[in-house]
Amino acid sequence: MESRKSTASFLWGAATSAFQIEGAPSADGKGPSIWDQFCAMPGKTAEGLAGLEACDHYHRYREDVEIMRRLDLPAYRFSISWPRVIPQGRGAENPSGWDFYDRLTDCLCAAGIEPVATLFHWDLPAALQTELGGSAHPDLPLIFADYAEAAFRRLGDRVRYWLTINEPWCIVELGHVRGCHAPGVKDRAVGYVVAHNLIRAHGHAVARYRVVRRRPGAISLALNGPYSFPASESSLDRIAAQRAMEACLGWFGDPCFFGDYPAVMRERLGGELPSFSQQDASLLTGSMDFIALNYYTANLVRHAPGGDRLQLLELELPQAKRTSTGWSICPDGLYQMLSWLSRRYGGLPIWVTENGAAFDDCPDESGQVNDADRVAYLREHIAAVDRAIAAGINVQGYFVWSLLDNLEWAEGFSKRFGLVRCDFRSQRRTIKRSGHWYAELIAKRCRTPLRQEQAGLHPEGNR
Ligand code: GCO
Repeated sequence: MESRKSTASFLWGAATSAFQIEGAPSADGKGPSIWDQFCAMPGKTAEGLAGLEACDHYHRYREDVEIMRRLDLPAYRFSISWPRVIPQGRGAENPSGWDFYDRLTDCLCAAGIEPVATLFHWDLPAALQTELGGSAHPDLPLIFADYAEAAFRRLGDRVRYWLTINEPWCIVELGHVRGCHAPGVKDRAVGYVVAHNLIRAHGHAVARYRVVRRRPGAISLALNGPYSFPASESSLDRIAAQRAMEACLGWFGDPCFFGDYPAVMRERLGGELPSFSQQDASLLTGSMDFIALNYYTANLVRHAPGGDRLQLLELELPQAKRTSTGWSICPDGLYQMLSWLSRRYGGLPIWVTENGAAFDDCPDESGQVNDADRVAYLREHIAAVDRAIAAGINVQGYFVWSLLDNLEWAEGFSKRFGLVRCDFRSQRRTIKRSGHWYAELIAKRCRTPLRQEQAGLHPEGNR
């Protein structure tokens, strides 16, 4: 049965990010990002991707917005490439870069699609990395806030919904601890500093937003993580699973809600974890107007004495089906995650800002892509969202990752997440069966009232 509740006050959409789709890495004055540099380094990414064209969205955005219009998507989450608009990361702006996002935003608005903009989806301007050491530099928060303010001023007459930083956990863990993502640093101590700076960057950007915004809207940051189930019924494993959630989602969510890291991180990590000043804490407290969650998978967690100080051992879910990235499919994890977040953060509205799956789907002889696996994945996860809403959790949005097949970071073009297939040679787009299915689902669920109510229903942070 379709949930009535998930129709009236709900924003449906699809998401992408700049580096993954735009291409045009040096067009019209764009500066390089750390990802342009990382991809140019031999062996760092699946295909050695220098000179990336990706989906060439920079030149084909009109066609892509037209596809969204045909699917009748109510909302689109994209990201702004920081080095496209401020090539050195600070100082001089690049008007041609801003013009691109102006055109894109205008085009979305003309098609009746709500733009949702992310400011930093991992493509840090390379100059900030080379000149300052990147996100580890103490000036990063204010440099980011200046960029954010420029974006609010430039696009804030049309963009109401903002995300400051996408998945800080990935920036820290993959980019600075494991080193498998740009900038390729492998240093846990640096990771804690980067996390701290990213959180402070978010806080400063939100403070600017609340001063300069031109119309009601809302701002947050996109959190990610697997949902951690205890590996056994033992109380040690149950406590460990909770600790894993706090050390992943809570690492970034708690400071933005309560003004400090989770107590369990402070206890276990001691001096390794930097401290927030009084001023930071008050800037951060209440800096999420809503919770933005990117959810893909779940795992099991066991208490692991003798491991690192968090004493966590993560295990795969037994017998779960996997996507082509190897991630276990667990729709119940989404339900549990929504409950966990809602309980922890005082019932704040939640948007699922990413959910989706990569499968090795291929076109048939007629060119159609019958991606039944993806349809099943989305159907089951949307059912989990419905279940959460029926249980009283305030979920207000759902965005599929991704609109288009795109560049999956270090995995190159090998992992396809799109509702729309992209042939990376010809740049031909084909709406997959999942795209049609999603469009029908949205249409069925009170499309018209949704459009009418977009004006008033979202977490307009009445500050
Ligand atoms: C992330 C990013 C996306 C990814 C997607 C699939 O969640 O890692 O936001 O850029 O492409 O999640 O891995």
